[in-house]
Amino acid sequence: DFEGRVLVIANRLPITIKPDAEGNFDYTMSSGGLVSGLRSLARVVDFKWFGWPGLDVHRNDKDRVRGQLHDQFNAVPIFLQKDLAERHYNGFSNSVLWPLLHRMPEKVGEDGGWSDAYLEVNEIFADNIVPYVEDGDLIWVHDYHLMLLPGILRERLSKKKDLRIGFFLHTPFPSEDYFTILPFREEICRSLLLCDVIGFHTNEYARNFLDSARTVLKDVAKSPHDLHWAGRRVILHGFPIGIEPEEFTQKVQSAEVQKEIAKLEKEFNGQKILLGVDRLDYIKGIPQKVRAFDRFLTAHPEWVGKVTMIQLAIPTRADVPTYQRLREEVEQLIGHVNGKHGTFTHTPIHYLYKSLNPEQLSALYAVSDVCIISSLRDGLNMVSYEYVASQVQRKGVLMMSNYAGAVKLLPSCVAINPWDLPRFAEKIGDVLDMPPEERARRQEENYNVVSKWTSVSWGTSFLNTMITLEIPQTEAP
Ligand code: UDP
Ligand code: G6P
Repeated sequence: DFEGRVLVIANRLPITIKPDAEGNFDYTMSSGGLVSGLRSLARVVDFKWFGWPGLDVHRNDKDRVRGQLHDQFNAVPIFLQKDLAERHYNGFSNSVLWPLLHRMPEKVGEDGGWSDAYLEVNEIFADNIVPYVEDGDLIWVHDYHLMLLPGILRERLSKKKDLRIGFFLHTPFPSEDYFTILPFREEICRSLLLCDVIGFHTNEYARNFLDSARTVLKDVAKSPHDLHWAGRRVILHGFPIGIEPEEFTQKVQSAEVQKEIAKLEKEFNGQKILLGVDRLDYIKGIPQKVRAFDRFLTAHPEWVGKVTMIQLAIPTRADVPTYQRLREEVEQLIGHVNGKHGTFTHTPIHYLYKSLNPEQLSALYAVSDVCIISSLRDGLNMVSYEYVASQVQRKGVLMMSNYAGAVKLLPSCVAINPWDLPRFAEKIGDVLDMPPEERARRQEENYNVVSKWTSVSWGTSFLNTMITLEIPQTEAP
Protein backbone atom coordinates (compact mmCIF):
# COMPACT_ATOMS: atom_id res chain seq x y z
CA ASP A 1 0.00 0.00 0.00
CA PHE A 2 2.93 2.30 -0.65
CA GLU A 3 1.72 5.47 -2.38
CA GLY A 4 5.05 7.02 -3.33
CA ARG A 5 7.09 6.76 -6.49
CA VAL A 6 9.79 4.26 -7.37
CA LEU A 7 12.77 5.41 -9.45
CA VAL A 8 14.91 2.59 -10.82
CA ILE A 9 18.38 3.50 -12.00
CA ALA A 10 20.53 1.08 -13.99
CA ASN A 11 23.20 1.52 -16.62
CA ARG A 12 21.12 -0.56 -19.07
CA LEU A 13 17.69 0.41 -20.28
CA PRO A 14 15.34 -2.37 -21.45
CA ILE A 15 16.11 -1.34 -25.00
CA THR A 16 19.38 -0.32 -26.59
CA ILE A 17 19.72 2.12 -29.49
CA LYS A 18 21.91 0.95 -32.35
CA PRO A 19 22.81 2.90 -35.48
CA ASP A 20 21.46 1.42 -38.71
CA ALA A 21 22.94 1.56 -42.21
CA GLU A 22 21.09 4.80 -43.15
CA GLY A 23 22.40 6.74 -40.16
CA ASN A 24 19.10 6.39 -38.26
CA PHE A 25 18.76 4.09 -35.29
CA ASP A 26 17.14 0.80 -34.37
CA TYR A 27 15.72 -0.07 -30.98
CA THR A 28 16.77 -3.55 -29.90
CA MET A 29 15.93 -5.50 -26.74
CA SER A 30 18.84 -5.37 -24.29
CA SER A 31 20.38 -8.68 -23.18
CA GLY A 32 21.21 -10.05 -19.76
CA GLY A 33 19.78 -10.91 -16.39
CA LEU A 34 19.33 -7.38 -15.03
CA VAL A 35 17.05 -6.39 -17.89
CA SER A 36 15.11 -9.70 -17.78
CA GLY A 37 14.45 -9.32 -14.04
CA LEU A 38 13.42 -5.67 -14.10
CA ARG A 39 11.32 -6.14 -17.22
CA SER A 40 9.23 -8.81 -15.47
CA LEU A 41 8.95 -6.68 -12.34
CA ALA A 42 7.71 -3.74 -14.43
CA ARG A 43 4.52 -5.69 -15.21
CA VAL A 44 3.36 -5.38 -11.60
CA VAL A 45 5.25 -2.45 -10.09
CA ASP A 46 5.02 0.96 -11.69
CA PHE A 47 8.45 2.57 -11.89
CA LYS A 48 10.40 4.97 -14.02
CA TRP A 49 13.60 3.43 -15.39
CA PHE A 50 16.65 5.70 -15.86
CA GLY A 51 19.66 4.51 -17.84
CA TRP A 52 22.11 4.81 -20.68
CA PRO A 53 20.59 4.04 -24.11
CA GLY A 54 23.86 2.60 -25.48
CA LEU A 55 24.43 5.35 -28.04
CA ASP A 56 24.85 9.09 -28.04
CA VAL A 57 22.31 10.46 -30.54
CA HIS A 58 22.57 13.81 -32.29
CA ARG A 59 21.12 16.70 -30.29
CA ASN A 60 18.37 17.23 -32.87
CA ASP A 61 17.14 13.67 -32.24
CA LYS A 62 17.31 13.63 -28.46
CA ASP A 63 13.81 14.89 -27.76
CA ARG A 64 12.25 12.41 -30.15
CA VAL A 65 14.14 9.51 -28.55
CA ARG A 66 13.23 10.76 -25.08
CA GLY A 67 9.55 10.89 -26.02
CA GLN A 68 9.52 7.41 -27.55
CA LEU A 69 11.34 5.83 -24.62
CA HIS A 70 9.04 7.54 -22.19
CA ASP A 71 5.82 6.54 -23.93
CA GLN A 72 6.76 2.99 -24.82
CA PHE A 73 8.96 1.90 -21.89
CA ASN A 74 8.43 4.40 -19.06
CA ALA A 75 12.18 4.95 -19.45
CA VAL A 76 14.35 8.06 -19.22
CA PRO A 77 17.59 8.03 -21.24
CA ILE A 78 20.76 9.50 -19.80
CA PHE A 79 22.91 10.39 -22.78
CA LEU A 80 26.67 10.17 -22.45
CA GLN A 81 29.24 11.51 -24.83
CA LYS A 82 30.83 8.60 -26.76
CA ASP A 83 34.37 8.71 -25.43
CA LEU A 84 33.21 9.09 -21.84
CA ALA A 85 30.73 6.23 -22.12
CA GLU A 86 33.45 4.08 -23.61
CA ARG A 87 35.84 4.69 -20.70
CA HIS A 88 33.09 4.17 -18.14
CA TYR A 89 31.48 1.09 -19.71
CA ASN A 90 34.24 -0.77 -21.57
CA GLY A 91 36.90 0.65 -19.27
CA PHE A 92 36.28 0.86 -15.56
CA SER A 93 33.01 -1.10 -15.38
CA ASN A 94 33.83 -4.03 -17.64
CA SER A 95 37.63 -4.16 -17.58
CA VAL A 96 38.21 -3.50 -13.87
CA LEU A 97 35.08 -3.96 -11.76
CA TRP A 98 33.54 -6.91 -13.61
CA PRO A 99 36.65 -9.15 -13.47
CA LEU A 100 37.40 -8.25 -9.84
CA LEU A 101 33.84 -8.84 -8.67
CA HIS A 102 34.11 -12.27 -10.33
CA ARG A 103 37.52 -12.74 -8.67
CA MET A 104 39.48 -12.82 -11.90
CA PRO A 105 42.18 -10.17 -11.40
CA GLU A 106 44.13 -11.62 -14.33
CA LYS A 107 41.38 -10.32 -16.65
CA VAL A 108 41.72 -6.71 -15.49
CA GLY A 109 42.65 -4.48 -18.43
CA GLU A 110 45.41 -1.93 -18.65
CA ASP A 111 44.08 1.34 -17.22
CA GLY A 112 43.35 4.12 -19.71
CA GLY A 113 42.28 6.85 -17.26
CA TRP A 114 39.10 4.98 -16.47
CA SER A 115 38.56 5.87 -12.81
CA ASP A 116 37.93 9.54 -13.66
CA ALA A 117 35.35 8.53 -16.24
CA TYR A 118 33.67 6.23 -13.74
CA LEU A 119 33.26 9.03 -11.23
CA GLU A 120 32.18 11.50 -13.92
CA VAL A 121 29.46 9.21 -15.29
CA ASN A 122 28.13 8.53 -11.79
CA GLU A 123 27.95 12.31 -11.34
CA ILE A 124 26.19 12.82 -14.67
CA PHE A 125 23.60 10.22 -13.64
CA ALA A 126 23.06 12.22 -10.44
CA ASP A 127 22.73 15.49 -12.44
CA ASN A 128 19.97 13.90 -14.49
CA ILE A 129 18.10 12.31 -11.62
CA VAL A 130 18.19 14.98 -8.92
CA PRO A 131 15.68 17.30 -10.68
CA TYR A 132 13.12 14.46 -10.80
CA VAL A 133 13.28 13.54 -7.12
CA GLU A 134 10.46 14.47 -4.73
CA ASP A 135 9.96 13.95 -1.01
CA GLY A 136 9.01 10.36 -0.18
CA ASP A 137 10.53 8.76 -3.32
CA LEU A 138 12.20 5.36 -3.30
CA ILE A 139 15.40 5.42 -5.34
CA TRP A 140 16.67 2.00 -6.32
CA VAL A 141 20.16 1.93 -7.91
CA HIS A 142 21.34 -1.21 -9.72
CA ASP A 143 24.64 -2.88 -10.35
CA TYR A 144 28.36 -2.26 -10.53
CA HIS A 145 28.33 0.54 -13.12
CA LEU A 146 26.80 2.92 -10.58
CA MET A 147 28.34 2.12 -7.22
CA LEU A 148 29.27 5.73 -6.45
CA LEU A 149 25.81 7.03 -7.27
CA PRO A 150 24.03 6.31 -3.95
CA GLY A 151 26.59 8.41 -2.06
CA ILE A 152 26.38 11.31 -4.51
CA LEU A 153 22.57 11.26 -4.41
CA ARG A 154 22.45 11.10 -0.62
CA GLU A 155 24.63 14.19 -0.40
CA ARG A 156 22.86 16.22 -3.06
CA LEU A 157 19.39 15.27 -1.83
CA SER A 158 19.98 15.80 1.89
CA LYS A 159 17.10 18.33 2.06
CA LYS A 160 14.46 15.87 0.81
CA LYS A 161 12.12 14.30 3.35
CA ASP A 162 11.53 10.55 3.73
CA LEU A 163 13.83 9.70 0.88
CA ARG A 164 14.95 6.09 0.71
CA ILE A 165 17.94 4.90 -1.30
CA GLY A 166 18.61 1.23 -2.03
CA PHE A 167 21.29 -0.57 -4.02
CA PHE A 168 21.18 -4.04 -5.57
CA LEU A 169 24.24 -5.79 -6.98
CA HIS A 170 23.52 -8.26 -9.81
CA THR A 171 27.00 -9.82 -9.66
CA PRO A 172 28.77 -11.75 -6.93
CA PHE A 173 30.53 -9.78 -4.23
CA PRO A 174 33.99 -11.31 -3.75
CA SER A 175 35.80 -11.99 -0.52
CA GLU A 176 37.74 -9.03 0.84
CA ASP A 177 41.13 -10.12 -0.53
CA TYR A 178 39.77 -9.55 -4.07
CA PHE A 179 37.71 -6.47 -3.29
CA THR A 180 40.62 -4.67 -1.65
CA ILE A 181 42.57 -4.80 -4.95
CA LEU A 182 40.13 -2.20 -6.29
CA PRO A 183 41.33 1.40 -6.68
CA PHE A 184 37.98 2.90 -5.54
CA ARG A 185 37.44 0.47 -2.65
CA GLU A 186 36.99 3.15 0.00
CA GLU A 187 34.76 5.43 -2.07
CA ILE A 188 32.56 2.49 -3.07
CA CYS A 189 32.11 1.31 0.53
CA ARG A 190 31.30 4.83 1.70
CA SER A 191 28.78 5.35 -1.07
CA LEU A 192 26.97 2.04 -0.47
CA LEU A 193 26.85 2.64 3.27
CA LEU A 194 24.81 5.79 2.60
CA CYS A 195 21.99 3.51 1.37
CA ASP A 196 19.15 2.29 3.58
CA VAL A 197 19.21 -1.20 2.08
CA ILE A 198 21.93 -3.05 0.15
CA GLY A 199 20.85 -6.25 -1.61
CA PHE A 200 22.80 -9.15 -3.06
CA HIS A 201 21.70 -12.42 -4.65
CA THR A 202 22.90 -14.45 -1.67
CA ASN A 203 23.72 -13.87 1.97
CA GLU A 204 27.21 -15.12 1.25
CA TYR A 205 27.81 -12.09 -1.00
CA ALA A 206 26.30 -9.83 1.67
CA ARG A 207 28.73 -11.24 4.26
CA ASN A 208 31.64 -10.66 1.88
CA PHE A 209 30.61 -7.03 1.51
CA LEU A 210 30.38 -6.64 5.26
CA ASP A 211 33.87 -8.06 5.76
CA SER A 212 35.24 -5.77 3.04
CA ALA A 213 33.59 -2.67 4.47
CA ARG A 214 34.98 -3.47 7.91
CA THR A 215 38.46 -3.87 6.47
CA VAL A 216 38.40 -0.76 4.30
CA LEU A 217 36.60 1.67 6.63
CA LYS A 218 36.94 2.17 10.32
CA ASP A 219 34.06 2.07 12.77
CA VAL A 220 31.70 -0.24 10.94
CA ALA A 221 29.73 -2.14 13.58
CA LYS A 222 27.74 -5.19 12.64
CA SER A 223 24.95 -7.48 13.68
CA PRO A 224 24.12 -10.36 11.31
CA HIS A 225 21.91 -8.42 8.86
CA ASP A 226 22.46 -4.78 9.47
CA LEU A 227 25.37 -2.57 10.23
CA HIS A 228 25.99 0.78 11.72
CA TRP A 229 28.33 3.36 10.36
CA ALA A 230 28.63 7.10 10.89
CA GLY A 231 25.40 7.19 12.88
CA ARG A 232 23.40 5.34 10.21
CA ARG A 233 21.84 1.90 10.10
CA VAL A 234 22.06 -0.04 6.84
CA ILE A 235 20.27 -3.33 6.10
CA LEU A 236 22.25 -5.92 4.16
CA HIS A 237 20.47 -8.96 2.84
CA GLY A 238 20.33 -11.68 0.19
CA PHE A 239 17.45 -11.18 -2.27
CA PRO A 240 17.86 -13.83 -5.00
CA ILE A 241 16.36 -12.62 -8.28
CA GLY A 242 14.11 -14.92 -10.31
CA ILE A 243 11.81 -15.12 -13.31
CA GLU A 244 8.04 -15.27 -13.78
CA PRO A 245 7.75 -18.99 -14.60
CA GLU A 246 4.28 -18.64 -16.17
CA GLU A 247 5.75 -16.42 -18.88
CA PHE A 248 7.84 -19.41 -19.95
CA THR A 249 5.29 -22.20 -19.42
CA GLN A 250 2.75 -20.24 -21.44
CA LYS A 251 5.12 -19.21 -24.18
CA VAL A 252 5.99 -22.87 -24.87
CA GLN A 253 2.30 -23.53 -25.54
CA SER A 254 1.93 -20.73 -28.08
CA ALA A 255 1.37 -21.63 -31.73
CA GLU A 256 4.47 -19.77 -32.84
CA VAL A 257 6.77 -21.62 -30.44
CA GLN A 258 5.13 -24.96 -31.19
CA LYS A 259 5.90 -24.38 -34.86
CA GLU A 260 9.57 -23.63 -34.02
CA ILE A 261 9.73 -26.74 -31.85
CA ALA A 262 8.40 -28.91 -34.67
CA LYS A 263 11.05 -27.49 -37.03
CA LEU A 264 13.85 -28.16 -34.56
CA GLU A 265 12.62 -31.68 -33.81
CA LYS A 266 12.56 -32.46 -37.50
CA GLU A 267 16.05 -31.04 -37.96
CA PHE A 268 17.58 -32.93 -35.03
CA ASN A 269 15.46 -35.99 -35.63
CA GLY A 270 15.70 -38.20 -32.54
CA GLN A 271 19.05 -36.88 -31.35
CA LYS A 272 19.65 -35.81 -27.78
CA ILE A 273 20.27 -32.08 -27.49
CA LEU A 274 22.64 -30.48 -24.98
CA LEU A 275 22.00 -26.76 -24.74
CA GLY A 276 24.16 -23.83 -23.67
CA VAL A 277 22.77 -20.25 -23.50
CA ASP A 278 25.33 -17.71 -22.35
CA ARG A 279 26.44 -14.19 -23.06
CA LEU A 280 29.87 -14.69 -24.62
CA ASP A 281 31.59 -13.85 -21.34
CA TYR A 282 34.66 -15.43 -19.76
CA ILE A 283 32.77 -15.93 -16.50
CA LYS A 284 30.50 -18.46 -18.23
CA GLY A 285 33.12 -21.22 -18.68
CA ILE A 286 32.20 -21.91 -22.32
CA PRO A 287 35.64 -23.36 -23.24
CA GLN A 288 35.39 -25.73 -20.25
CA LYS A 289 31.98 -26.91 -21.47
CA VAL A 290 33.24 -27.51 -25.00
CA ARG A 291 36.30 -29.39 -23.72
CA ALA A 292 34.12 -31.58 -21.50
CA PHE A 293 31.93 -32.45 -24.50
CA ASP A 294 35.04 -33.21 -26.57
CA ARG A 295 36.30 -35.52 -23.84
CA PHE A 296 32.92 -37.22 -23.56
CA LEU A 297 32.77 -37.92 -27.32
CA THR A 298 36.35 -39.20 -27.29
CA ALA A 299 35.52 -41.63 -24.48
CA HIS A 300 32.13 -42.58 -26.01
CA PRO A 301 32.38 -42.61 -29.81
CA GLU A 302 29.14 -44.61 -29.86
CA TRP A 303 27.35 -41.33 -29.02
CA VAL A 304 28.68 -39.51 -32.11
CA GLY A 305 25.70 -38.76 -34.33
CA LYS A 306 23.25 -39.34 -31.48
CA VAL A 307 23.86 -36.15 -29.53
CA THR A 308 24.26 -32.51 -30.62
CA MET A 309 25.39 -29.59 -28.54
CA ILE A 310 23.74 -26.25 -29.36
CA GLN A 311 25.68 -23.32 -27.94
CA LEU A 312 24.08 -19.91 -28.18
CA ALA A 313 26.71 -17.22 -27.56
CA ILE A 314 24.96 -13.90 -27.06
CA PRO A 315 27.15 -11.00 -28.28
CA THR A 316 28.24 -8.75 -25.44
CA ARG A 317 30.89 -6.07 -24.73
CA ALA A 318 32.48 -6.77 -28.07
CA ASP A 319 34.76 -3.70 -27.89
CA VAL A 320 36.59 -5.04 -24.85
CA PRO A 321 39.81 -6.92 -25.81
CA THR A 322 39.34 -9.80 -23.32
CA TYR A 323 35.93 -10.48 -24.88
CA GLN A 324 37.40 -10.40 -28.38
CA ARG A 325 40.07 -12.90 -27.35
CA LEU A 326 37.43 -15.14 -25.77
CA ARG A 327 35.43 -15.16 -28.99
CA GLU A 328 38.49 -16.27 -30.95
CA GLU A 329 39.27 -18.96 -28.41
CA VAL A 330 35.71 -20.33 -28.36
CA GLU A 331 35.32 -20.33 -32.13
CA GLN A 332 38.67 -22.02 -32.65
CA LEU A 333 37.91 -24.65 -30.05
CA ILE A 334 34.47 -25.43 -31.49
CA GLY A 335 36.01 -25.69 -34.96
CA HIS A 336 38.56 -28.10 -33.55
CA VAL A 337 35.94 -30.32 -31.89
CA ASN A 338 33.69 -30.32 -34.96
CA GLY A 339 36.65 -31.22 -37.17
CA LYS A 340 37.63 -34.02 -34.84
CA HIS A 341 34.26 -35.69 -34.22
CA GLY A 342 32.20 -34.51 -37.20
CA THR A 343 31.09 -36.73 -40.11
CA PHE A 344 29.64 -35.93 -43.56
CA THR A 345 26.17 -35.99 -42.06
CA HIS A 346 26.73 -34.80 -38.50
CA THR A 347 28.10 -31.67 -36.85
CA PRO A 348 28.56 -32.23 -33.09
CA ILE A 349 28.36 -28.57 -32.03
CA HIS A 350 25.96 -26.00 -33.48
CA TYR A 351 27.30 -22.60 -32.58
CA LEU A 352 25.28 -19.38 -32.87
CA TYR A 353 26.82 -15.96 -32.22
CA LYS A 354 23.64 -13.86 -32.00
CA SER A 355 20.68 -12.87 -29.86
CA LEU A 356 17.46 -14.80 -30.30
CA ASN A 357 13.93 -13.51 -30.01
CA PRO A 358 11.90 -14.87 -27.06
CA GLU A 359 10.00 -17.37 -29.24
CA GLN A 360 13.14 -18.92 -30.72
CA LEU A 361 14.73 -19.06 -27.27
CA SER A 362 11.66 -20.69 -25.78
CA ALA A 363 11.67 -23.37 -28.50
CA LEU A 364 15.36 -24.10 -27.91
CA TYR A 365 14.80 -24.44 -24.17
CA ALA A 366 11.84 -26.73 -24.76
CA VAL A 367 13.47 -29.17 -27.22
CA SER A 368 16.70 -29.68 -25.27
CA ASP A 369 17.30 -32.76 -23.14
CA VAL A 370 19.99 -31.15 -21.02
CA CYS A 371 20.98 -27.56 -20.29
CA ILE A 372 24.60 -27.05 -19.23
CA ILE A 373 25.65 -24.03 -17.20
CA SER A 374 29.38 -24.16 -16.54
CA SER A 375 30.07 -20.68 -15.12
CA LEU A 376 33.40 -20.18 -13.34
CA ARG A 377 31.63 -17.52 -11.31
CA ASP A 378 28.11 -16.11 -11.80
CA GLY A 379 25.98 -13.84 -9.59
CA LEU A 380 22.89 -16.03 -9.92
CA ASN A 381 22.19 -17.24 -13.51
CA MET A 382 18.62 -16.81 -14.73
CA VAL A 383 19.07 -19.05 -17.76
CA SER A 384 18.89 -22.03 -15.38
CA TYR A 385 15.48 -20.86 -14.10
CA GLU A 386 14.19 -20.21 -17.60
CA TYR A 387 15.23 -23.70 -18.68
CA VAL A 388 13.43 -25.32 -15.73
CA ALA A 389 10.26 -23.32 -16.45
CA SER A 390 10.34 -24.38 -20.11
CA GLN A 391 10.74 -28.10 -19.35
CA VAL A 392 7.41 -28.95 -17.75
CA GLN A 393 6.79 -31.48 -20.53
CA ARG A 394 10.15 -32.97 -21.50
CA LYS A 395 11.65 -32.90 -18.00
CA GLY A 396 15.14 -32.17 -19.20
CA VAL A 397 18.12 -32.18 -16.87
CA LEU A 398 19.78 -29.04 -15.57
CA MET A 399 23.55 -29.34 -15.11
CA MET A 400 24.95 -26.44 -13.19
CA SER A 401 28.29 -25.27 -11.97
CA ASN A 402 29.03 -25.11 -8.26
CA TYR A 403 30.20 -21.54 -8.90
CA ALA A 404 26.87 -20.08 -10.07
CA GLY A 405 24.79 -18.45 -7.31
CA ALA A 406 21.70 -20.41 -8.45
CA VAL A 407 23.25 -23.76 -7.48
CA LYS A 408 22.52 -22.91 -3.85
CA LEU A 409 18.83 -22.49 -4.63
CA LEU A 410 18.33 -25.40 -7.02
CA PRO A 411 19.61 -28.48 -5.15
CA SER A 412 17.97 -30.82 -7.66
CA CYS A 413 20.22 -29.80 -10.52
CA VAL A 414 23.19 -32.00 -11.37
CA ALA A 415 26.03 -29.99 -9.89
CA ILE A 416 29.33 -29.91 -11.75
CA ASN A 417 32.79 -28.53 -11.19
CA PRO A 418 33.76 -26.91 -14.51
CA TRP A 419 37.48 -27.23 -13.64
CA ASP A 420 37.31 -30.99 -13.12
CA LEU A 421 37.22 -32.00 -16.77
CA PRO A 422 37.19 -35.81 -16.35
CA ARG A 423 34.24 -35.78 -13.91
CA PHE A 424 32.42 -33.13 -15.95
CA ALA A 425 32.73 -35.31 -19.08
CA GLU A 426 31.54 -38.39 -17.17
CA LYS A 427 28.51 -36.55 -15.86
CA ILE A 428 27.46 -35.66 -19.41
CA GLY A 429 27.19 -39.42 -20.00
CA ASP A 430 25.29 -39.91 -16.73
CA VAL A 431 22.66 -37.30 -17.49
CA LEU A 432 22.12 -38.60 -21.03
CA ASP A 433 21.29 -41.97 -19.46
CA MET A 434 19.26 -40.66 -16.54
CA PRO A 435 16.07 -42.68 -15.94
CA PRO A 436 12.78 -40.84 -16.62
CA GLU A 437 11.57 -41.08 -13.00
CA GLU A 438 14.66 -39.31 -11.73
CA ARG A 439 14.37 -36.62 -14.39
CA ALA A 440 10.74 -36.04 -13.43
CA ARG A 441 11.54 -35.82 -9.74
CA ARG A 442 14.37 -33.34 -10.24
CA GLN A 443 12.28 -31.26 -12.60
CA GLU A 444 9.44 -31.01 -10.12
CA GLU A 445 11.72 -30.05 -7.25
CA ASN A 446 13.47 -27.41 -9.33
CA TYR A 447 10.17 -26.07 -10.61
CA ASN A 448 8.95 -25.54 -7.04
CA VAL A 449 11.99 -23.40 -6.32
CA VAL A 450 11.59 -21.38 -9.51
CA SER A 451 7.93 -20.72 -8.61
CA LYS A 452 8.87 -19.56 -5.13
CA TRP A 453 11.76 -17.17 -5.88
CA THR A 454 10.28 -15.07 -8.68
CA SER A 455 11.25 -11.69 -10.06
CA VAL A 456 8.11 -10.19 -8.54
CA SER A 457 8.86 -11.62 -5.09
CA TRP A 458 12.45 -10.38 -5.45
CA GLY A 459 11.41 -6.84 -6.37
CA THR A 460 8.55 -6.49 -3.92
CA SER A 461 10.58 -7.92 -1.07
CA PHE A 462 13.43 -5.46 -1.77
CA LEU A 463 11.04 -2.52 -2.04
CA ASN A 464 9.16 -3.55 1.11
CA THR A 465 12.43 -3.66 2.99
CA MET A 466 13.12 -0.12 1.81
CA ILE A 467 9.70 1.01 2.97
CA THR A 468 9.54 -0.72 6.36
CA LEU A 469 13.28 -0.83 7.11
CA GLU A 470 12.67 -4.23 8.69
CA ILE A 471 15.01 -7.13 8.05
CA PRO A 472 13.26 -9.60 5.69
CA GLN A 473 12.05 -12.84 7.27
CA THR A 474 12.74 -15.07 4.26
CA GLU A 475 16.17 -16.59 4.60
CA ALA A 476 18.18 -16.47 1.38
CA PRO A 477 20.99 -19.02 0.91
N1 UDP B 1 18.79 -13.67 -23.19
C1 UDP B 1 18.95 -12.53 -23.93
N2 UDP B 1 19.15 -12.63 -25.29
C2 UDP B 1 19.21 -13.84 -25.93
C3 UDP B 1 19.07 -15.00 -25.16
C4 UDP B 1 18.86 -14.88 -23.79
O1 UDP B 1 18.89 -11.42 -23.39
O2 UDP B 1 19.43 -13.90 -27.14
C5 UDP B 1 18.51 -13.51 -21.74
C6 UDP B 1 18.11 -14.77 -21.05
O3 UDP B 1 16.77 -15.08 -21.38
C7 UDP B 1 18.33 -14.41 -19.59
C8 UDP B 1 19.47 -13.41 -19.65
O4 UDP B 1 19.68 -13.11 -21.04
O5 UDP B 1 17.19 -13.79 -19.04
C9 UDP B 1 20.75 -13.92 -19.07
O6 UDP B 1 20.70 -13.81 -17.69
P1 UDP B 1 21.68 -14.60 -16.73
O7 UDP B 1 21.31 -14.23 -15.34
O8 UDP B 1 21.66 -16.07 -17.02
O9 UDP B 1 23.17 -14.09 -17.10
P2 UDP B 1 23.78 -12.64 -17.41
O10 UDP B 1 23.74 -12.51 -18.89
O11 UDP B 1 22.97 -11.64 -16.69
O12 UDP B 1 25.19 -12.73 -16.93
C1 G6P C 1 25.03 -8.75 -16.30
C2 G6P C 1 25.14 -7.45 -15.53
C3 G6P C 1 24.13 -6.44 -16.05
C4 G6P C 1 24.27 -6.30 -17.55
C5 G6P C 1 24.20 -7.65 -18.25
C6 G6P C 1 24.43 -7.56 -19.75
O1 G6P C 1 23.82 -9.32 -16.03
O2 G6P C 1 24.96 -7.69 -14.15
O3 G6P C 1 24.30 -5.20 -15.43
O4 G6P C 1 23.26 -5.45 -18.05
O5 G6P C 1 25.17 -8.52 -17.70
O6 G6P C 1 25.61 -6.90 -20.04
P1 G6P C 1 25.69 -5.48 -20.80
O7 G6P C 1 27.12 -5.09 -20.65
O8 G6P C 1 25.27 -5.74 -22.19
O9 G6P C 1 24.75 -4.54 -20.13
